[in-house]
Amino acid sequence: MSEKHKLAIIVGSVREGRFGPVVASWVADQAREHDGFDIDVVDLADSEIPLSLPAVSPKLAGDSYPRPDAMAPLTSQLTNADAFIIVTPEYNHSYPASLKAAIDWHYTQWTAKPVAFVSYGGAAGGRHAVLHLENVLTELHAVTIRDGLAFPLYRATWEDGRPLDPAAPGYAKTLLDQLAWWAGALRSARNSLPYPA
Ligand SMILES: Cc1cc2nc3c(=O)[nH]c(=O)nc-3n(C[C@H](O)[C@H](O)[C@H](O)COP(=O)(O)O)c2cc1C
Repeated sequence: MSEKHKLAIIVGSVREGRFGPVVASWVADQAREHDGFDIDVVDLADSEIPLSLPAVSPKLAGDSYPRPDAMAPLTSQLTNADAFIIVTPEYNHSYPASLKAAIDWHYTQWTAKPVAFVSYGGAAGGRHAVLHLENVLTELHAVTIRDGLAFPLYRATWEDGRPLDPAAPGYAKTLLDQLAWWAGALRSARNSLPYPA
């Protein structure tokens, strides 16, 4: 088995002219430099994610949950991941509806896996979005990582696809170290015992 953890970096915003891919690309560079992960950038804009859900719950339906065919690549990307980094902006003091829809269409894909956050936005740097995500992902039995990165006022603090703060790569390394630790611990646990969800 590969020593590297399979990391899905999720681009949470899908709007026209979004900044999300710039942040996700920098995060992917940091993860490549860290060398503990095989990286898959999961852009929600590439997927069909309807707002209308099936009658059954994904928790009860498990693998037979009736997802649209066009969602299959997203579902398999989430299924294959050992760890996630969610890159999210802040929309009206929360995270985008695209991200909520992608989360709600899945269940077991999040269970007993670690999730870290990189956020950006206005003065609060997306912290309201992250607080809401932590709450929601706990309901799905995911494990959220303490150390995240938040980029307030990103229009003034990013240039040429990277943050101007020279400390940012160091913060990213701390996040990635914690994520790698949890990814390894939870993968071993999942492989040795069924999670009691
Ligand atoms: C609908 C909407 C609501 C927003 N609400 C907030 C907010 O509550 N707090 C904040 O800091 N920025 C807010 N913003 C600014 C976004 O953080 C900023 O536009 C950011 O670029 C959005 O990410 P994106 O470009 O990847 O879509 C909002 C933007 C939009 C489009």
